[in-house]
Amino acid sequence: MPSPVANTTAPRARFYAFGGSFGGLDFEPTYNFPTTNIISPFPPPPVNTIDWSNVGFRVREVALHYSVHTKKWTPPQFVADPYIRIHGMAPALNYGQQAYEGRKPSARPEYISCPPVPVEHFVNAVKATVSLNAEYVPPHETGAARYIRPQIYGSSGQLGLSPPEEYMFCVYVLPTGVYHGTHPVDALILDDFDRAAPNGTGSAKVGGNYAPVLRWSDKARTEGYGITLHLNSATHSEVDEFSTSGFIGALVDGDNVTLVVPDSKNVIKSVTADSITDIGKSFGWNLERRSIKYTELPNFSEVMAAGTTAALVPIRTISRCIDPSSPDSISAAVKQHPRLSSDKQAEKVNYIEESQEDAGPVCLKLLTQLKAIQLGKAKDEFGWCAPVTAEDGAKITGVPKATKGDGQTVDQLD
Ligand code: COI
Repeated sequence: MPSPVANTTAPRARFYAFGGSFGGLDFEPTYNFPTTNIISPFPPPPVNTIDWSNVGFRVREVALHYSVHTKKWTPPQFVADPYIRIHGMAPALNYGQQAYEGRKPSARPEYISCPPVPVEHFVNAVKATVSLNAEYVPPHETGAARYIRPQIYGSSGQLGLSPPEEYMFCVYVLPTGVYHGTHPVDALILDDFDRAAPNGTGSAKVGGNYAPVLRWSDKARTEGYGITLHLNSATHSEVDEFSTSGFIGALVDGDNVTLVVPDSKNVIKSVTADSITDIGKSFGWNLERRSIKYTELPNFSEVMAAGTTAALVPIRTISRCIDPSSPDSISAAVKQHPRLSSDKQAEKVNYIEESQEDAGPVCLKLLTQLKAIQLGKAKDEFGWCAPVTAEDGAKITGVPKATKGDGQTVDQLD
């Protein structure tokens, strides 16, 4: 009977996953080494084998997966291996039938013909994963975070372009640093590549919205841009979103602050952007959800990129390779603006001076409050925080018996 997880021969790292009934076949979760210390006080302290101040973005541990056969999801199981064994002809690998973040509206499993994950399954799986990896939550003072990545995909092998019979839902967790760092970054508008078709899947958190961007964001990085920005594909005249995160502009008139977010149907619905705008509203600031013209970029006092891994990134400049004499340019629309500079082939909107390494006041205030809520230092008036206990992990099947916890990490793979 095949196992959905690869059998490794030696204890190597601390990886967890859950498996379940897979196309009618039962499988055994595989784990190679003792893991959780359920009898210890919860939560345990962070392991001391990770340089928490320098976490980066490598996957360090993995959580759970489970699968569905026909219309039934199996209970989540714990599997101690980050490598998932699926058929090489799985639509996930061949046709991009994959989405992540499972239940968020943005994940849109229905866009890729995957069955939805019931709320209860989803919450149980996420809480169990967090609980069973509690010692990998970074210490607060490092600024690092615990990232949770639920994912869903078509997993059984087939050639035909039709929804397969079997699906997998997994939750991975990993400690991460801040994706774009905390300093202001330069953004580049991508004009030679359209991220999303007008009636396409641009609003879905599917892999196909990310992989095609890689070569463009990589090229932009070599040119000194830390982040890339997409305009609407149909006319390239409205702001959609950054490749990694949502767009938020701040209009500031004295004490009057208005946060503006795009209402494009091709933008991924960002929970972090929603949290930021909720925080803004709690400060008494206004919120406008509307189309944002490219030519109004200089009107913003600040621009920010909001995302789960990005948190809130201050944007220093936004550049576009466009002839300033083109009728589509800002230069043509507004002639002169203190935030606008241009040469023969490009124009640039400047929000934060080169000499300044801090975010603007709007960004700083929003980010400070977001972090304070995340860290439990400010009252969570929105009800975003959910408690996770040792019991959330203990009720899942396949969890290894309580041990002293050996604290092994993937650092020991190096
Ligand atoms: C996230 O921030 O959660 C994302 O999915 C963006 C990804 C490029 C890291």
